Amino acid sequence: MKLEDRSAIVTGGSSGIGRGIALELARAGADVAVGDLTETPSDLGASATTTERIRDLGRDALFRETDVTEPGDVAALVEAAVDAFGGLDVLVNNAGIARGGTVEAVSEDDWSDVLDVNLSGVYRCTKTAMEHLLESDHGRVINVASQLAFVGYEESPAYCASKGGVANLTRQLAVDYSGDGVTVNAICPGPVKTSMTRSKDDDELESWDDDEERAAFYRDRVLTDFVGEPEDVGRAAVFIASDDARFMTGHNLVIDGGYLAR
Ligand code: NAI
Repeated sequence: MKLEDRSAIVTGGSSGIGRGIALELARAGADVAVGDLTETPSDLGASATTTERIRDLGRDALFRETDVTEPGDVAALVEAAVDAFGGLDVLVNNAGIARGGTVEAVSEDDWSDVLDVNLSGVYRCTKTAMEHLLESDHGRVINVASQLAFVGYEESPAYCASKGGVANLTRQLAVDYSGDGVTVNAICPGPVKTSMTRSKDDDELESWDDDEERAAFYRDRVLTDFVGEPEDVGRAAVFIASDDARFMTGHNLVIDGGYLAR
């Protein structure tokens, strides 16, 4: 397996894309620490937690309640992973939130919250984990940005600004650390079936696709005839984490069903 004997941290790994990444890393052989606000998955139809699923795959897993805006939480997560797995090879900065509204409508609090989680969270986790990644022979930082790092989107000024920041922070970190053996890349997903992209007000839904209006909205924006699944992003993370991607650093890898190509 490509990631045999590797260990990873995935922030925001209880649900959605982070869960997909954590499961694919585990399928490829990695032990995974999940840091999230809650362990309960928000994905429709998901019953088992991410760590339960990882243990079913035969890998080691741990969960730490973590808010990436809290330096103490981040330090405790990194320490728990290093203690449990004997080191750290891969940090996946995935935790993210979205708050809508035009620039006139977005409050100071919402603006700050989005930047604090999506952009400063990447700074905080990377700063804390770096000393351990530098000790690994395969150190990797994998940031989850967005296709909205490169284009504007209706009523999302804080989100677009935060993701543009993550894309260029990725390049900057690569400049400082690639020579010391830690590559830094980002994955920039297009629409993926998670809680972030479904209606929040419909508790009757059993699966993401049952929200037909939403599903059609996103399907119309990609070139594929389907919207992405978290595992589509997870498999890209496996590639970046593996030795196959050893010459790749400072790159923003777009996985968007062709959203940006149109
Ligand atoms: P989601 O809402 O399904 O999952 C986000 C996870 O992050 C949740 O488990 C949540 O509890 C956790 N989280 C939120 N704030 C946190 C904090 N302060 N500390 C720790 N954990 C926190 O969202 P989704 O869609 O899985 O998003 C994951 C990442 O992918 C985000 O960075 C998002 O911006 C990005 N993304 C998502 C796309 C999509 O279509 N779903 C497209 C492009 C990027």
